[in-house]
Amino acid sequence: MRVLLVCLGNICRSPTAEGILRHKLEQAGLADRVEVDSCGTGHWHLGKTPDRRARAAAARRGFDLSALRARQLDDSDFQRFDYLLAMDHDNLLALEARRPPDCQAHIGLFLDFAGYEDKAVPDPFFGGARGFEEVLDLIEAGADGLIATLRRRLETSP
Ligand code: 4NP
Repeated sequence: MRVLLVCLGNICRSPTAEGILRHKLEQAGLADRVEVDSCGTGHWHLGKTPDRRARAAAARRGFDLSALRARQLDDSDFQRFDYLLAMDHDNLLALEARRPPDCQAHIGLFLDFAGYEDKAVPDPFFGGARGFEEVLDLIEAGADGLIATLRRRLETSP
């Protein structure tokens, strides 16, 4: 199973989600069943490490984002991944606009898996430290919910 997490810059929200999801998949014993990656719909930060504030906030909760590097969404992602999950509505629209007609992947909002309906992970880039904590709270909930869904799917189609 392959999951792609998508935000705008790929330096705050989606790399945070990638790091947290990988960590929680390892704890759940599913790291070898699910491949995780992240990307941005924008191009401004290609090759950069996650934002210093995002790295510091994640590290305080035991999540290491230091090895991640930003990349941009590619057309091939629509064939490669089973789930393309956007952090907010603008990025969901960007995914849907580029979705090829033959794409079989699930495209939706990441927080749908936390039981939130139609909720976005707010962009913390231009805000203060509190924004990064809120991002972590939401992403931890989203990752837990997504893992529960993936586990059920893997159990029914081994
Ligand atoms: P992200 O946050 O989409 O969560 O990575 C942002 C990072 C950079 C910018 C906007 C959002 N920016 O405008 O450069």
